[in-house]
Amino acid sequence: MNHSSPSPISRRAAAIASSATLEITAVAAAMKAAGKDVIAFAAGEPDLPVPDDIIERAVQVTKEGRGRYTSAAGLPEVRAAIREKFAKDGYQFGADQVMATAGAKPAIYLALYALVNDGDEVLYPSPFWGSYSEIARSVGAVPVAVPTLPEEDFQPDARRLEAAITPKSRVLLLNSPNNPTGTVYSRETLEAIAAVVRKHDLWVLSDDIYDCLVYTQDKFLNLLHVAPDLAPRVIVINSLSKSHSMTGWRFGIVGGPAVVIEAMGRVASQVSGNPNTISQLAAITALRGKVDPTRVASLNHRRQVLIRELQSIPGLYCPVPRGAFYAFPSIKSFLGKSYRGHTVATSTDFSKLLLQDQLVATVPGDAFGAPDHVRLTYTTPEKDILEGVRRFKAFLAEFR
Ligand SMILES: Cc1ncc(COP(=O)(O)O)c(C=O)c1O
Repeated sequence: MNHSSPSPISRRAAAIASSATLEITAVAAAMKAAGKDVIAFAAGEPDLPVPDDIIERAVQVTKEGRGRYTSAAGLPEVRAAIREKFAKDGYQFGADQVMATAGAKPAIYLALYALVNDGDEVLYPSPFWGSYSEIARSVGAVPVAVPTLPEEDFQPDARRLEAAITPKSRVLLLNSPNNPTGTVYSRETLEAIAAVVRKHDLWVLSDDIYDCLVYTQDKFLNLLHVAPDLAPRVIVINSLSKSHSMTGWRFGIVGGPAVVIEAMGRVASQVSGNPNTISQLAAITALRGKVDPTRVASLNHRRQVLIRELQSIPGLYCPVPRGAFYAFPSIKSFLGKSYRGHTVATSTDFSKLLLQDQLVATVPGDAFGAPDHVRLTYTTPEKDILEGVRRFKAFLAEFR
């Protein structure tokens, strides 16, 4: 008899997609390990080293035997350093208004867990970092992507946001500089969003993980810089993953209303416990210091190289990203065409064939709610950027 057994997986877990970026990065890493000369434009991870003083501090506190349990929200001295860092950035948070987390990702999860009930809507401008929809779903919320347009520099439009609001709308997620578009929200954009937030009593999660990576005259602005009256409804999230290459150290910071921070800490205490204690103690050095300007200059140089090269490809439209470390060209004029006998219907087909035939790893726009695009990370060495784009061009030249 052939009984197919029912899946043991809950409906909620079954509804969550895995991270496309992590999946492609794993495939590219396996191909590399098998000796293939893969050029990886996929992972959102700087290739620059973690600053020496942070590593030395981590070694020292490990040797001192300080890697013990802490409060779920972090050690008092770490929370003090988080407050100082936020004050430098222009936000005043009290001692009960900050916490440490194991990165920005769990911070977003905990904040949404604390704020939404089943069926509440979580809105975000689209294209969007693919985890937003999945984290929202995982806490029982309904994700709502609000489109932004390449011809408007992907700036969120307050009228489109307002049109998407329903009585169930609860939280707005903002991310500037943006992954995947590189857009830095302007003052006008944020002022218009602030008016919508006030009118509809939304909560805001501001994911500022790329705030130190702005390459143009634009200045990074958080909603609180233009609308300080919204402090009772805004939660600021940041992490050391992108600013200090501490991706695997898992350290993030949160500032917001005490009632939300308390709930987030309570949930964390029953789920994950404290963020890694060694990372917390070493993070104090990072939080009290400055982001190394040579890191930003190095990424800016690679941004210019990648954009110049991509813009020289006929048929590829590549807006200039102003922050973060991603290029997000439109591949619209290639989709639906034939490549070596296959019809390339979607950005996922496109990225798969590019990896298979030219050994270039990218993330399809499908993963960001932008089916006509593909994302390339410019955290690879310049020579790899040049070689990667050469292969990208060779790939596109075969489209008929
Ligand atoms: C917009 C955005 N938010 C959050 C994260 C996750 O950061 P962390 O490593 O701190 O969890 C990423 C990582 O790619 C990101 O791009």
